[in-house]
Amino acid sequence: MSDRTRYALCGLSARGIAVFAGPLAGRPGDDTSGGYTADGELVAVLDADPDRVRRYADAVGADVPWYAADSFGRMVDETRPDVVLVATPDHTHVEYALAALARGLDVVVEKPMVTTAADAARVVEAARRGPGTVRVTHNLRYAPRHVALRRLVADGAIGRVTSVELVWNVGAAHGNSYFRRWNRTRAASGGLSVHKGCHHFDLVSWLVDDVPEQVFAYGARNFYGAGSPHDPGAGLDAAARAEADPYRCYAPDGASDPSLAYRVQYPEPLSAYDPEIDVEDTYSAVVRYRGGASLAYSIQFSAPWEGYRLGVNGTHGRIETDLYYGAAPLPPAGNTPITYYPLFGPARTVPVDGEDAAHLGADGPLVADLFRPADDADPLRQRASSLDGAYAVAVGEAVWRSVADNRPVDLAELLGTVGQ
Ligand SMILES: NC(=O)c1ccc[n+]([C@@H]2O[C@H](COP(=O)([O-])OP(=O)(O)OC[C@H]3O[C@@H](n4cnc5c(N)ncnc54)[C@H](O)[C@@H]3O)[C@@H](O)[C@H]2O)c1
Repeated sequence: MSDRTRYALCGLSARGIAVFAGPLAGRPGDDTSGGYTADGELVAVLDADPDRVRRYADAVGADVPWYAADSFGRMVDETRPDVVLVATPDHTHVEYALAALARGLDVVVEKPMVTTAADAARVVEAARRGPGTVRVTHNLRYAPRHVALRRLVADGAIGRVTSVELVWNVGAAHGNSYFRRWNRTRAASGGLSVHKGCHHFDLVSWLVDDVPEQVFAYGARNFYGAGSPHDPGAGLDAAARAEADPYRCYAPDGASDPSLAYRVQYPEPLSAYDPEIDVEDTYSAVVRYRGGASLAYSIQFSAPWEGYRLGVNGTHGRIETDLYYGAAPLPPAGNTPITYYPLFGPARTVPVDGEDAAHLGADGPLVADLFRPADDADPLRQRASSLDGAYAVAVGEAVWRSVADNRPVDLAELLGTVGQ
């Protein structure tokens, strides 16, 4: 019997291929993938779409048994995985995570851990009962820029953190894709303050090593859905409307990224102006942390450039950095350093390397730490727990609830006692 770890994957998604199936069994069109076959074995794939699993297995030349979405128990009984990897659409994570924990298995779940704080609390409680563990792949914790920032904060370079400012721009090319896929409904993704914002809320909580407590936010849908200023006209037929759509030049390209060829294939490309779109595309939020720090956060999903501006202030200084990625005319990722400004002394810059790989250089180190960890130590606490995942989801839910109700939302209201 092999001593390789046995993995079952729920969701042969683009992301599931990129970080789970690809490293274990191969990624179509990428000869450098499959680098962890000596460490782990992909023993089963559960997915709603058998054809996709067959095409994947053919493309990588692997024997990957397929199981239907309602066959989780049978999959576990027949293939005896040690670990369940979850990379299905967000609203289904809870089902597979709880089913795995009920069988005592470890779970690695893509962000967001789940789509509601109530489900997050259920997962935290199940993980606490053990013996199975939960790890959430909050990959931004592994990006070289964020590792450098975390080290500066942890080393006390700026003293006690007092406030954070984070402006995140999702470029139009990327942003419109969220509104053409399942991500565009609250029921499937929790809304973009959960689906996308969870990355940023986890990043800030981790950077400042604190726990979010209360949220106030404003938000709106300004670019997409019914009433969009960019909709070329409901009077046009579907083909003419699609042709005149100013976002059309940004359609996902399966040739440039082979994993995208395995995405959900809708019979017709979805329109970014459909009335079923019920999530916001613009938010401004303030978050208060237990230790007294606050975060001023904004995000929009149709910006002319993609990237972020981040400042972390403390009693003894400030750290700031900008990151641009995607299209010209801005510098590519990696060109902007981190600047450290001690309160009383000269500023210095900290260069950042290794950002040209996937997701700001985060995915390579994340995958290595998942499948071939250097050791058990996790000195920067990069391995996000179910509670970390729960806080990130709860802040995202608090954001859209605050927008809806025009009031501050306490996380304790959403998470109950699990966060105390
Ligand atoms: N960490 C990151 O940077 C990052 C990036 C992209 C996506 N993600 C996350 O990865 C996950 C997958 O996203 P994606 O955009 O790659 O997905 P996708 O649309 O490419 O694929 C979804 C897959 O799930 C399958 N599926 C649908 N419903 C199912 C069900 N009930 N049970 C089993 N399978 C089902 C589909 O057949 C498909 O194979 C999501 O949770 C997403 O939030 C994370």
